[in-house]
This record gives sequence, structure tokens and C-alpha cells, in this order.
Amino acid sequence: MKLIGPFKQIVTLANLPLRGKLSDEQLEIITDAGILIDKDKIQKVGNFEELKSENENILIEMIEGEEIVLPAFVDSHTHICFGGNRANDFAMRNAGKTYLEIAESGGGIWSSVQHTRSASEKELLTTLLERIHSLVSLGITTIEVKSGYGLDVENELKMLRIIKKAQTQTYATLVPTCLSAHLKPRDFEGNNEEYLNYIITEILPKVKEENLAHRVDIFIEKSAFQPEESKVFLLKTKELGFDITVHADQFTPGSSRIAVEVGARSADHLEATIDEDIEFLAQSDTVATALPGASLGLGEKFTPARKLLDAGAILAIASDWNPGSAPMGNLITQASILATYEKLTTAEVLAGITFRSAFALGLEDRGRLENGLKADFVTFKTDNFQNVLYNQGSLKAESIYINGNKI
Ligand code: NIG
Ligand code: FE
Repeated sequence: MKLIGPFKQIVTLANLPLRGKLSDEQLEIITDAGILIDKDKIQKVGNFEELKSENENILIEMIEGEEIVLPAFVDSHTHICFGGNRANDFAMRNAGKTYLEIAESGGGIWSSVQHTRSASEKELLTTLLERIHSLVSLGITTIEVKSGYGLDVENELKMLRIIKKAQTQTYATLVPTCLSAHLKPRDFEGNNEEYLNYIITEILPKVKEENLAHRVDIFIEKSAFQPEESKVFLLKTKELGFDITVHADQFTPGSSRIAVEVGARSADHLEATIDEDIEFLAQSDTVATALPGASLGLGEKFTPARKLLDAGAILAIASDWNPGSAPMGNLITQASILATYEKLTTAEVLAGITFRSAFALGLEDRGRLENGLKADFVTFKTDNFQNVLYNQGSLKAESIYINGNKI
């Protein structure tokens, strides 16, 4: 066993409900605190001196100066495996071009597909690992990563194999998701329904065989896949044993309903979700995931996070880091900004980037600092945990611990 401390504050997020609104008074804040670790798990969080006297002959890792501790963050939605970049899309959008005009002039998702297909495996792995390191340095130790820029058997498998390989080179947990249903690729001969069938018959069996992902995602939107065909597809993937997540209600409403109906783990985006569907989501176990990075990247409105929480939904916040709509890749900055626009409490934001986003990934062993949970946590050099969101991402993490070890 090992005792780490003393810390000025440890915010445990213990005993907070999975769903609905939270007040900051509900936060458990332990002062002059220590964290007792048994192998890779948390044994106990409490007063440092008390833990020290209760546990003789244990290793003590002393902390000099004032630091606070939070559970490590969980980014439950990213597209960080990609080739090329879309800086020109961003510039054109800001110069007034529409999404369609940009796609027609060679930008959009299809341009990332071409860059990803032509990139070497080495190049994709190197840039993926760089992005993982950048997220870990923010205090994020669990990262979902989607395919979706390959869009044929060969290239979707290439992406997922690279994500699997990256897992052998990072201490962070990577959660791969198959997003072959991102868009029907321009070189596919057939309609949407035929492409979705191709995913079911040609891609997913291999994904299963090689154990490359146990989650499937789809982009339901006017410009991508339509609600009815998507529902049929998702039910088939469910039969194959995959967990489901959906890109829902980004520009037009209607698809979060389908996510709930098929029992998806999460419905992500929701910028355009209507009040009736907020209620529907709130009564389900499907996590509603806000992606403020996409709102900031596109200049679109934010997900109605306040309304979702008030209605009782499980709200997660993720970065959506991708080359097109969300190029920033800083979840802490994005979550802080979402909080100022949507009026979210500190407790709601912290829950949204820890145990609630972990739940969206089906991981209930992390995201709080409680007995028996994974010892992943992040420290900041400050005397008050509120400074983390107050500084909107500019207060850098001091130390990152994964499985009880400082990395
Ligand atoms: O989550 N909305 C669809 N997919 C991504 C964007 C991907 C891209 O533009 O490359 C998103 O925003
Ligand atoms: Fe996305």
C-alpha cells in the first residue's frame, strides 16, 4: 500500500447521483487530505495524518507545496485518428461558405477520408499518440477513439488496428468505436441502405473477429444517414453484440429518439434537440453528451445542457476532437465555456467529464475517488479546486496518476 499527500483538497465526487442536476454543496471536499492506494485501486481517501497513523510501515509519497486532486477526466467522444487537417475548411466557414459549398470544393469529412486512407500506418500511429499525449497532459486518462475516416473494409480496419496498437503504447485507457457509418463514401457503388449492409456483412464481422471494438456509432443527419435506415442498422449491430452510440440531433432533431429506442449508451451532440425529446432522453439511461468543441468549431449553438440536467438526464461533456468541426482538443476549456453559457454548476461539469462520461462508455470502475475504484487522478498546483474551471483550461495539470502511479 502507498499513501500520497498531503493535498490541500481532494474532491472525490463520491455519492453523487448518476443523473440530473447537482449543486456544489453536494461535493465532498476533503482538506489536508491523503489518498491511500492498494495496487492499482483506491483504498481510502481521508485526512492525511489520520491515514498515516492508521497505516504504519507503508510507502509515503510526499507532496511539497499546495496541490488539489480531482478524479482523472474521461473524454467519451473523439475522432483523433486521422490524416491531414482541415484548416482551410475552418477559414472558408469563417469567410461565410456553407457546409455544402465546402464539401463540394473538396473539404468536409470526405477530404479527411482521403488523407487518412493515403497516410501510412506509421504516420497515423505517431499523430494519434501525439494527440493522446496532449489529452493525457490535461488530466484525461480514458479516451474514446472512433474510426470513420476509412469508410471501406481495408481502411476502417487499418484505423481500428492502429488504435489497438496505440493502446500498447500508452497507460491511458483507449475505448475504440467503429464509426464506419459516418458517411457513405463517394466511391461506394450503391445507396445508403446497401452501404449500411456492407458494414454489417463485411466490416463488423472482422471487427469482432480481431476484437477491434465493441461499440458502433452512426451519424444520423440529413447529409449522412436517415432515421429509419439507421434504426434498422443499429438493431442489427445490437444483435451482433455491439454497444451503440449515436451522433444525434446535431443540425436537425429526431435522431436522439432513435438512440433511446435502440437502447444506445449515449446520444451525442444534441445541439438541435427539441424539448419533447429532452424529456424522452431524461427518462432513459442513454447518456446525453454535449460536445461544446463542435459548437465552438462551427459557430453553432450549444447543447441545451441546463435543460437536460433539469429534466433529469445523465449529462456527459466530451471534446469531439476531430479535424473538421472540433479542432481544439481541449476538453477543460470547452467544458468551462459550456458552463458559462449554459449555467452549469462546478459539480455538474466535473461529473460530466468524469463518472458520467465513464458511464457512457460502460465503465463504472472510474471517475470518482472511492474505495475499490481505479486509482486514476489528476493534481493541480493551486489551493482551491474551483480554479481549474475558473482558469478555463489555462491552469495546467501538475501530475497525472494512472493505476496509482505518477506518469
Ligand atoms: O462529430 N458530425 C459528424 N462527425 C463529426 C465531424 C467529423 C468531421 O467533420 O470530420 C462530429 O462533429
Ligand atoms: Fe463526433
